[in-house]
Amino acid sequence: MAQPISTADATRPAVAANVARFDGRIKVTGGARYGSDPSVVNPAYAYLVTSAIARGYITHIDDDATRALKGVLDVMTYENTAGRIKPGKLFSDHGYMATTIQPLASERIEHAGEIVAVILADTYEAARDGAHRLKIAYAEETPSAGFGSAGTETVAGKAASSEHEDPAVGDAAKAFQEAPVKIDAAYGTPTQHHNPIELFTTTCAWDGGRLTVWESSQNVYGFKNGLAQQLDMSAEDIRVISPFIGGAFGSRGSLTPRTALIAYAARRLNRPVKLVATREQGFTIATYRAETRHHIKLGAGRDGKLVSLSHEGWEVTSRPDNYMVAGTDASTRLYACPNVYSNVSIVHADRNTPGFMRSPPETPYIYALENAMDELAVALDMDPVELRRVNDTMVESIRGLRYTSRSLMECFDAAAKAFGWSRRNPKPGSMRDGDWLIGWGCATAMYPTQIAPATVRVSLTPRGTVKVQTAAHEIGNGAYTVVAITAADKLGVALDKITVELGDSDLPPAPVAGGSNTTASVCNVVAKACEQIRARIAEAAVAAQDGPFAGADPKTLVLKDGMLRDPTGSKTEPLSAAIRRAANGALEAYAENIPHGAKPDGIDMLYRGQPNLVGGAKMKDRIQFAFGAEFVELRIHARTREIRCPRIVGAFAAGKIVSPRTAESQLMGGMIWGISAALHEATEIDARAARYYNTDLAEYLVPVNADVADVQVIMLPEEDHLVNELGIKGLGELANVGTPAAVASAVWHATGIRIRELPIRLEKLLETKAI
Ligand code: MOS
Repeated sequence: MAQPISTADATRPAVAANVARFDGRIKVTGGARYGSDPSVVNPAYAYLVTSAIARGYITHIDDDATRALKGVLDVMTYENTAGRIKPGKLFSDHGYMATTIQPLASERIEHAGEIVAVILADTYEAARDGAHRLKIAYAEETPSAGFGSAGTETVAGKAASSEHEDPAVGDAAKAFQEAPVKIDAAYGTPTQHHNPIELFTTTCAWDGGRLTVWESSQNVYGFKNGLAQQLDMSAEDIRVISPFIGGAFGSRGSLTPRTALIAYAARRLNRPVKLVATREQGFTIATYRAETRHHIKLGAGRDGKLVSLSHEGWEVTSRPDNYMVAGTDASTRLYACPNVYSNVSIVHADRNTPGFMRSPPETPYIYALENAMDELAVALDMDPVELRRVNDTMVESIRGLRYTSRSLMECFDAAAKAFGWSRRNPKPGSMRDGDWLIGWGCATAMYPTQIAPATVRVSLTPRGTVKVQTAAHEIGNGAYTVVAITAADKLGVALDKITVELGDSDLPPAPVAGGSNTTASVCNVVAKACEQIRARIAEAAVAAQDGPFAGADPKTLVLKDGMLRDPTGSKTEPLSAAIRRAANGALEAYAENIPHGAKPDGIDMLYRGQPNLVGGAKMKDRIQFAFGAEFVELRIHARTREIRCPRIVGAFAAGKIVSPRTAESQLMGGMIWGISAALHEATEIDARAARYYNTDLAEYLVPVNADVADVQVIMLPEEDHLVNELGIKGLGELANVGTPAAVASAVWHATGIRIRELPIRLEKLLETKAI
């Protein structure tokens, strides 16, 4: 069953659009059902066994002790499962999968933590006990962990993917040589894992030939279609249910191999099977943010104007998969510059395949560029805000396309004012408070505005209640809230009359909750369906000879406050009466929306669960991005180098804001994540074994309240009628983009030390002599 979220669940009555999170009450009262919460009858439990080595093969499996254990039902290994599940294509290769590495397919091991066995038992405890009793012998080969390891293979982005481009224009090498002011530096970002609070879980149940899957997913149609391929069955016979998601950030956007394994296990046992993987297993059975390296060269005139920009990037991936994020698409277009060179390469190592993690391309690539821009401001002896101003542009450099709208400098000015930037003494170490060195820094955030085809069904009953159904995803982004607000606004009913159903592949399809497209894609199609309903009501009203609207122009009639009204409001009629004239019962509308620039078969692709996001720098006729400016204050202890972040201010312009409260929450969360990336987060790797070793939330550092004191979000109004009808840009992945470079800027300002590799931890500041 889809979980309908309704009126009574909203914590506040409708007050304009600035309402509380629509699903807030059901979440905080424990009513929301997540991936591991389905009430299936008498499930068997699965426990995974994962590989102890990163590269090599299994030489022997001894499952006698496991099978002898009371309650153990079966032990799935490659010996009895190989060939039962079909391999799928990678998501970025127009498939559905997070990885093409298919576990239990052979004795071969491709990365540490690869699934090597699934223990099935009557209880979770028996399955876990059985897993610990399984004996697997391996023949180990020396693995390559990543950058700097022997045996890796570096491949040019262009060779890895026919769709990859290395944006370039002019002659960057010559312009760099002749530039009066230059920066030439290397930057790096570490491996990071999403660590959503909700663990990676899957529950599968068969009913004859029909499969139901409960799993938190950012793409229920993608999962359904991908599973159909892997299990060699019709997608019509699969239903994926995911009404609530306990954190995703990209980790649930593509199908991981565990889902088909659990579906197959349930068929084998003829009984529902439930898997809850451990936190540690989550590091290797799902995806993560790849480690990156960057070489940036900036050349500028003494006036600060860029004359040359070169951005080379390297990204770690698995042996078989060409996963790459290639954020040069954005970094080469952020500022005006006549000469640009870029190049992206991927480095194959013995690792699990990386994947999407909140603003996958922009987070590492814009961090590198923005840290370099801050270095350039220092070299020029110029205010970093002014450096952004002289290089601001409405036209991107590579193809000369216009931005649909761009409010970057408005963001800088608003945030600088709120922050008190004019009081900054630019000299590093100059703003000292006792033993604490104060650092103020800033940087740009940018994120592509993307929208995808979407569908929805809306029904309006004569009592004025509304049901909105679409297979969009609530990943904490506020999807329930923005859908409800849009329907309430367009149908002129109060929010407490609205029920929203999301996250179920039996609903009309909506796109993957990725690329921050959900609000734009879904609100635009909801508005379209509501308009169909309004038009039918209006047409019936003007056709009725005895009614108040006889002969009026139906286009001018509006639904507002539970009434049908003419434009002046002098003629009104209760909605219930107007609906009865238009229909016998409920009025129902199904709508499809194909955004500007989408492929003509966009709706078919949507039904097949294939993403078709359009926007950013990928359009033929224009370029569309959202922007922000972030200002950070740090206090760094002069002797211990302890780093505190008492204050962060961000100003953002992202088109129309449908729900100010959930938008603010997204932006705030993004900046907190940015502080996390800048100061805390890294997955540590044992380079000899190619294994992660801080695989829990005790050792994988994320910020707590004490690490983030005062977070101020400013949302600037921005009108953009080109991006889509409602003018929505999307902002879920905007705010975390600028923070790491702003922190690096503040570290330099406090200490005179330039840190180029994230995270910036106190030991890095102890290694270098400060001012
Ligand atoms: Mo997001 S990383 O685009 O799911």
